[in-house]
Amino acid sequence: MRVLGIETSCDETAVSVVEAQIGKTGILANVVSSQIRLHEQFGGIVPEVATREHLRNLPQLVPGLLTQSRIRLDDLDAIAVTQGPGLATSLLIGYSYARALGLAADIPVCGVNHLEGHLFSPFLALSQKVEFPFIGLIVSGGHTLLVHAKGWNHYEKLGGTVDDAAGEAFDKVARLMDISYPGGPKIEKLARTGNAEAYAFPRSFPQKDNFNFSFSGLKTSVRYFFEKNPQAHDDNAWKADLCASFQSAVVDVLARKAGNALAATGCKRLVASGGVLCNNALRVALAQACAEQGANLLVADPKLCTDNAAMIAATAAEKMAAGIPLTLATDIDPNLSLFKRPGSTAAVKNKEKLMRQR
Ligand code: KG4
Ligand code: ZN
Repeated sequence: MRVLGIETSCDETAVSVVEAQIGKTGILANVVSSQIRLHEQFGGIVPEVATREHLRNLPQLVPGLLTQSRIRLDDLDAIAVTQGPGLATSLLIGYSYARALGLAADIPVCGVNHLEGHLFSPFLALSQKVEFPFIGLIVSGGHTLLVHAKGWNHYEKLGGTVDDAAGEAFDKVARLMDISYPGGPKIEKLARTGNAEAYAFPRSFPQKDNFNFSFSGLKTSVRYFFEKNPQAHDDNAWKADLCASFQSAVVDVLARKAGNALAATGCKRLVASGGVLCNNALRVALAQACAEQGANLLVADPKLCTDNAAMIAATAAEKMAAGIPLTLATDIDPNLSLFKRPGSTAAVKNKEKLMRQR
């Protein structure tokens, strides 16, 4: 089964084709057109700019991807497109394009939850069959979530951020240092030469049975630090120590809570994804937390940690292969939850039913 994936939930226009065979899904083609350069000058993502870029990019990327990988429209069995969560206008561009293409090719178009895509991306990246149960840790610019995944569509929320997402905290702290968006990779680079114990920044919710996160207090502490030490703005050694100490506070909380979640549930598998998983200090700390719990760590290589369409296509393909209902791409949902079971009348079971309902 070949599925074309389209992802336009934020600032990346991404398209991909995956192939599902029994027990395994492989990537046939995968392209991500990043808008980082465009948004950098504004210090963050501007929704209207992102939308116009998706509109410009998609009609070039999809035919280009198919030509380059020698896949014809006729070879596709379905199209999977991100339904939400994300920026409404960006999601709409992906949806409109996917639906038009589905009509032209006479194939079903289904909506996929962006977070579900992240959740399963490590299995795809490591060419492993999806196996339950596991603890999912999603850490990106918009989300910080700990999930107990018990089966398809059966995800229990253990905790999430009560304010900023971890990636957002990296981006906001970077801004305090006049570092352009996205701040995460640049903070990690600066942190390499710094002392992580130079400053004791706060760790939120230290209790073992609390799986929520809070990163806004940490960001405020960094702001106070600069107010008290204005000379730090122009001193690379101060900045390196600050970045290392800030990064260590974020990483410490994420790894500790992931370890606690493994211990509390008895799960022996941690599946971690999202853009912040590009951070090597976090990968090392999670590996250590897993070792302490006798658990395996599944983490994608960096290019599949950040937003991509392969994770969207693969989630749909795996669900179809497992006979799990998919949602027809009838409407976007910018606030789509991972924890609401898809039970709409549009939820249908397989390709034939999808075709009939269209
Ligand atoms: O998953 P993603 O591409 O987009 C969202 O769905 O949000 O994640 C982007 C986020 C940004 O906040 C970026 O600063 C952060 O991931 N990030 C990092 C690193 N690389 C990307 N954070 C820390 N260290 C990194 N190396
Ligand atoms: Zn994402």
